[in-house]
Amino acid sequence: MQPSRQDHGVLSFEDLNSYCTGEHNYLLAHWDSLSQDERFSLARQITQIDLGLLQRELKSQVQTCDASELSRRAMPPEAIRFSDRTPELIEQAMRLGGQAIRSGQVAMVLVAGGQGTRLGFDQPKGMYAIGPISGRTLFQMHVDSLRAAMKRYGVSIPFLVMTGPSTDQPTREYFSSNANLGLSQDDLLIFQQGTMPAIDATTGRILMESRSSIALSPDGHGGIVRALAKSTWLEQAKSRGIRYLFYAQVDNPLVRACDPLLIGLHILKGSQATTQVVQKRFATEKVGNVVEVDGKTQIIEYSDLPEEIAKQTNPDGSLKLWAGNIAVHVFDVEFLDRCSQSAEALPFHRALKAVAHVDHLGNLHEPKAPNAIKLERFVFDLLPAAEKALVVEALASESFAPVKNAIGSATDTPRSCQKAIVDLHRKWLTDAGARVDENCVVEIHPAWAWDEQDVKQRISHPVSIHCDTYFT
Ligand code: UD1
Repeated sequence: MQPSRQDHGVLSFEDLNSYCTGEHNYLLAHWDSLSQDERFSLARQITQIDLGLLQRELKSQVQTCDASELSRRAMPPEAIRFSDRTPELIEQAMRLGGQAIRSGQVAMVLVAGGQGTRLGFDQPKGMYAIGPISGRTLFQMHVDSLRAAMKRYGVSIPFLVMTGPSTDQPTREYFSSNANLGLSQDDLLIFQQGTMPAIDATTGRILMESRSSIALSPDGHGGIVRALAKSTWLEQAKSRGIRYLFYAQVDNPLVRACDPLLIGLHILKGSQATTQVVQKRFATEKVGNVVEVDGKTQIIEYSDLPEEIAKQTNPDGSLKLWAGNIAVHVFDVEFLDRCSQSAEALPFHRALKAVAHVDHLGNLHEPKAPNAIKLERFVFDLLPAAEKALVVEALASESFAPVKNAIGSATDTPRSCQKAIVDLHRKWLTDAGARVDENCVVEIHPAWAWDEQDVKQRISHPVSIHCDTYFT
């Protein structure tokens, strides 16, 4: 039931009451005291919730993903390790990846629905200025890399940005007031992920944020499957011949947009869901663990992996569960479409959180301790759902520098990210024969050089690079 403005008179208390099937009628406790607009907005929220799915989820006694049980059976994943990359494999994969991009079979999606609370930045994280010299924002860094891919392959590549309820409006305003960062309107799609209600952990009831609104929160980045289907993008993509979706997170500017090597390996190995990993630096590093359980590739979050299992080592002292998730994936569009047709294709993960709410009398409660279950889907649960998944190792120094925490924190800060960008660009320059002082800050715009090979073409003879040079 989708109420429209004209439904004001039609969408009665009785209609909603029956939609709530007796189990959720408490949502209408304040109906009589609501204005017409408040009733409309509450009705819309209620009817957008798949109450059947929610009910089934809450009734299942089993935590959908019993991670500690999984962890005990976890083995390292079968993977294309960095050392396995022969020149022939690289050449073959680059050719396939390049062909797919050139022929318009690839699109890119950036997930940017999170609230970035840990960074302490009150705007969408994509608007954070990260360029070490340029001050370009995270959004700009990704778009610049994508535009370099477009230039190299002579094709326009659709760019999708998934927002959440709190990032949607400011993200749209940011792109439109910055001329879409140079993208044509036809190449840009900003779409919003869905939400899930917070559930009272004791009673199993949906919590109300106010008398006229439900306490809703983003449904996790796994919400992308449902949101893409809802926006009809998946259907359009299939009919336009787009076969592969390159996926990245807004917080990692070191991602090579539409990495042709990763896409090529995905195609070469007949994978439906491919994930790029890096070797974990230490056992308890805060990255998801890419593992294999019963022959299926899975990701177990760092918070769910018992420490004694994370610390297991091989005879040579290296970590047994070595593969860290950097959230760079390639998905077959066909596979995503199939998953979108089953409401239960991705499991929900439950997190206990403190959620403010009003009770049936309209009194506001602001608990300090967790009182509510939040339900989120994770995109990486697509890996075990795939008939064929692929894991590919990359070097962290070339592909992973996330911005998670505020300046001054121990790891994954804007400073550590900028240092990683500068270190990589300095290495490209020195490998090409340039002389760069090791304390010098340099930055390369992807339009000047998208990768190491481009830099080698630009620097044809040994030169000395001045500090603070921005190659653009
Ligand atoms: C995530 C991964 C972790 C991985 C790490 C790499 C999860 C659960 N964990 O951790 O395995 O090692 O990234 O950096 O994903 N987002 C949405 N909508 C949401 C929630 C998140 O779009 O509802 C987006 C965020 O904007 C962000 C990304 O997803 O771009 C990651 O979310 P975040 O909560 O920061 O995950 P991490 O804990 O950092």
